[in-house]
Amino acid sequence: MLGLSLNKSSADLVKEYFHAQGLKTQDLPKYISFKDYFSVEINEQKYVVEVNNWKNKTVNLPSIENFYHFLSSPKAKEFAGGLFITHKGYSETVKFFLKANPDKEIVLGLLENNISNPKKTKININWLYPLDYSIKNKQKNNSIQAGVFACKGGVGKTTVTAHLGLLLSELNYSVLLVDEDPERHLKRILDSVIKTEKKSLNLKCINSEELEEEADENYDFILYDYPPSLNGSSIYSVSNLNYCLVPINLSPLALGLEAEIIHKTFNYINQLNSSIKILALINNEIDSNHPTSKALKQEFKKALKQYPNAHLLPFSIRHSSHLYYWGKSNILSGMGRQSNAYQDFLALADYLIKLLNFNEDKK
Ligand SMILES: Nc1ncnc2c1ncn2[C@@H]1O[C@H](COP(=O)(O)OP(=O)(O)OP(=O)(O)O)[C@@H](O)[C@H]1O
Ligand SMILES: [Mg+2]
Repeated sequence: MLGLSLNKSSADLVKEYFHAQGLKTQDLPKYISFKDYFSVEINEQKYVVEVNNWKNKTVNLPSIENFYHFLSSPKAKEFAGGLFITHKGYSETVKFFLKANPDKEIVLGLLENNISNPKKTKININWLYPLDYSIKNKQKNNSIQAGVFACKGGVGKTTVTAHLGLLLSELNYSVLLVDEDPERHLKRILDSVIKTEKKSLNLKCINSEELEEEADENYDFILYDYPPSLNGSSIYSVSNLNYCLVPINLSPLALGLEAEIIHKTFNYINQLNSSIKILALINNEIDSNHPTSKALKQEFKKALKQYPNAHLLPFSIRHSSHLYYWGKSNILSGMGRQSNAYQDFLALADYLIKLLNFNEDKK
């Protein structure tokens, strides 16, 4: 049964699949790669194959980046490209990374899970990209307009807006960041990152007063960084939003007595925009297993139930020194791809990209 075979022998099953199609495979020596890569010859060209054994996790960007870097290294110069095969599926960010980095061809495969037929030992692979994954012609004017807001200072609104914006633009989306805070923290941070970054970024950061000038531009994502209390013009801009991202800290002070900060924040947002969807995001999570954290999370979830348009995101942004020393390291530089901070922001970007694609499908 394929479901059971997907530990040690999944690579062997994939080899059998190729052999059944008359294709030759060859194991790669360990000095070429520390992983169990093998090669397959298709139309007189050799491709490296990686079979991912993780049963329960969709393949995220770092796994594909590692494969891509191997394929781009001198050791792999004899290969035309790579085939990456998994059982579980791929995050959206993977597909966009491949679109943005076309120099080395990587084809993604999905092992067909045939657990309904335990006798079947043969596998099937559905090839996803680029064979039948066609990037949709993005229909613009369909952007995600998300405010980042909470009636509480210092919960990470600016941190979330800035890193999320940088990551989405790195993934090739066009991003407009709007600084609605008179303190201009976001603008100051982003201006310095944009100045030092060598790559050209598909990202613009403006003050709220400049928003009108952007009326004719089409962005995939427009993210607004709000201060904890809103004044005239920033109140007005909330009506543009289709989503509001609310960073929550699981500390007694940040939640308030009986989660009063949550009620205050959610009621306020709903008053200003009756069709908005609220995405609550636990930020700066220190220890999710600590009894106080657990108790506060329960209290928070109880409060959340009162708001049908609010949803707790299924991941948190963990506490990370990369996010504490603002400006010194950011998602584009200094922050390792394996770091918690990078991984957590990838999950958030992935979630929003899915929302964007979903909105496009609805059209
Ligand atoms: N996940 C995190 N891990 C570590 N430090 C964090 C994290 N999130 C935010 N911080 C830090 O917490 C502090 C407050 O963050 P930030 O300025 O983004 O909050 P804010 O909600 O925008 O504040 P304000 O209400 O003043 O605008 C900053 O020093 C920031 O670097
Ligand atoms: Mg701020």
